[in-house]
Amino acid sequence: MRILAIESSCDETAAAVVENRINVLSNVINTQIELHKLYGGVVPEIASRNHIENISTVVDKAIYESGLSFDEIDAIAVTYGPGLVGALLAGVSYAKGLAYALNKPLIPVHHIKGHISANYIETPELKPPFICLVASGGHSHIVNVKGYAEYEVLARTRDDAAGEAFDKVSRVLGFGYPGGPAIQKAAEKGNSDAIHFPRVNLKDKGFDFSFSGVKTAVLNYINNAEQKGEEINKYDIAASFQEAVVDVLSEHLIECAKLTGADKVALAGGVAANVPLRERVKNKAAEAGMGFYFPNMKLCTDNAAMIGCAAFAEYENGVVADLSLNAIANLPL
Ligand code: KG4
Ligand code: ZN
Repeated sequence: MRILAIESSCDETAAAVVENRINVLSNVINTQIELHKLYGGVVPEIASRNHIENISTVVDKAIYESGLSFDEIDAIAVTYGPGLVGALLAGVSYAKGLAYALNKPLIPVHHIKGHISANYIETPELKPPFICLVASGGHSHIVNVKGYAEYEVLARTRDDAAGEAFDKVSRVLGFGYPGGPAIQKAAEKGNSDAIHFPRVNLKDKGFDFSFSGVKTAVLNYINNAEQKGEEINKYDIAASFQEAVVDVLSEHLIECAKLTGADKVALAGGVAANVPLRERVKNKAAEAGMGFYFPNMKLCTDNAAMIGCAAFAEYENGVVADLSLNAIANLPL
């Protein structure tokens, strides 16, 4: 079975052809990062319009690079939430049109299920159950992946997502958008022990995250220094902030996995591209005797191959949409 998948939930217009769950025949991504950089973050209206302008070319390219024709595709999959509603609608509308014109089934896919599924493409021998940390610009979840289509959310953020905190701190430090890669690069030149930013621990309420405190602590640190006329070392701030976030993400993931008796942990989402986070989780997982999995950089950030992979599990469970399918900005997992 071959699925043509479409993803447009944020600032990447993406299409991919995936065969038999994990065999990626093409994976085309048109990123809008350059367009949004000017504003220091994603502007929803600009994102929606740009998806509409590019989606047809991106889909055609995915088909071309797969070496197949539209007739050889068995189903169309599309991200229908969560995400920016206008951006999602561009993909959902296009996918509906395509499914109707080609007379193929339409499979609606949850964006987070896609991020988690990127791990199956990267490591074909990985099978559920495992505990996955999904950390992106919009989400920070710890998910018990019980089956290919069975998920239980064990923890989530109470306020900002981890990637959102990276983006905001990067903006105030003047490192630009997207913040994650910029902070990671700046942190290489800084001392991660220079400043102790808070590690908010809501353990009495389970393993939920809170990142607004560390973000505010960084802002206060900068404001205080400016008021006193003291010079700040942006690289030390970046390194110390990253250290605080990596500490919390890795500790919650491993402790949560221990509590559930899991023997495997995985990372997913844009923040999973963070090298210090990968290193830390790798070490903690090894100490705890757990297997550790993560997707390559291209599969961490938004792409359609992961959506195609997740679509197989949905289809096996009989999840098919009709032409009334709508985009849902805050779709729960
Ligand atoms: O998964 P993704 O592409 O889009 C969403 O679903 O949100 O994640 C984008 C987020 C951004 O906040 C970006 O700053 C962050 O992932 N990110 C990183 C890194 N690369 C991307 N965060 C930390 N370190 C990175 N290397
Ligand atoms: Zn994403």
